[in-house]
Amino acid sequence: MIILGIETSCDETAAAVLQDGRVLSNVVASQIAVHSEYGGIVPELASRHHLQAIEPVVNAAIEESGVQRQGIQAVAATQGPGLIGSLVVGFSFAKAFAMASNVPFTGVNHIHAHLMSVFLEQEVPSFPFIGLIVSGGHTSLYLVKNHLSMELLGHTRDDAAGEAFDKVAKILGLPYPGGPVIGELAEHGNETAFAYPRTRMPDAPLDFSFSGLKTAVMLSVRGCESSGGPMPVADIAASFQRAVVDVLVEKTLLAAQSCKVSDIVLCGGVAANKRLRTAMVDAVRVNGMRLFMPSSGFCTDNAAMVAVAGMHQIEAGMTASMEADVFSKIYN
Ligand code: KG4
Ligand code: ZN
Repeated sequence: MIILGIETSCDETAAAVLQDGRVLSNVVASQIAVHSEYGGIVPELASRHHLQAIEPVVNAAIEESGVQRQGIQAVAATQGPGLIGSLVVGFSFAKAFAMASNVPFTGVNHIHAHLMSVFLEQEVPSFPFIGLIVSGGHTSLYLVKNHLSMELLGHTRDDAAGEAFDKVAKILGLPYPGGPVIGELAEHGNETAFAYPRTRMPDAPLDFSFSGLKTAVMLSVRGCESSGGPMPVADIAASFQRAVVDVLVEKTLLAAQSCKVSDIVLCGGVAANKRLRTAMVDAVRVNGMRLFMPSSGFCTDNAAMVAVAGMHQIEAGMTASMEADVFSKIYN
């Protein structure tokens, strides 16, 4: 099956063409430059830029794939969760493309697409596996039973891990998105310099909470400011990053142990974090489990993951009608 995937849930306009699950092209137009001066995503600006970018990005993906436009046999687009004004651009474009080409169309859950991104790699896990998705909008643990069925085990009660990285970067006066900048600074910092909290919830051990951590960072920054000395930015970044990584690793292992599953998949934008990757590799090795991580380009938002998830849906007959609509939030 030759499938076109389209992703516009947040601040990346992306399109990809896959043939039988193999990536022929994967084009991502990032809006980071548009939003960075505001320190976060401005939804209205995002949808306007998606409108400008969608046609050239899809054309580029088709051209790079070497496939003729008439060769596209199915279309998949992110249906949600995400920013409504952004989702509607890609979803409507995809519907129109499918209708004009008279090919099947399916709507993909963005979270499911992240969990399926591992199937773009050579080494793939066995079902069932534990999927930790850590991005700017989500921090959730899933038991993934097959390509189409996944059970939510736990999720964040407040900020997503990526959101915490972005907010801490803002507190430290660093540019958006905060994750990559904090990750780099942390390499030169002492991760035990500040004792930041690791929030655990006894009533829901697989749920996450990062808002207390963000507040703790803010208080320590204020404390350093009032003491008048230089701001230990690298130490704060490293200590904060370690606190996030510790909780993510601990809860992922707990999920795997309680579900008696030995394959773990780490995905989503924060999965590009080097410290998280090495900590997860070590923890998994010690516990005799197997870890699968998509390469960085498939961790951050892209359309290849949407196409691979969509391929399985279409193969299972799960097509969407032209009346289908986008959705902003979901917890399953
Ligand atoms: O999956 P993604 O591209 O978009 C969403 O669906 O949210 O994730 C973006 C998030 C941002 O919060 C960004 O700061 C974070 O992923 N991120 C990172 C790194 N690269 C991106 N966080 C920590 N370390 C990184 N290297
Ligand atoms: Zn995402």
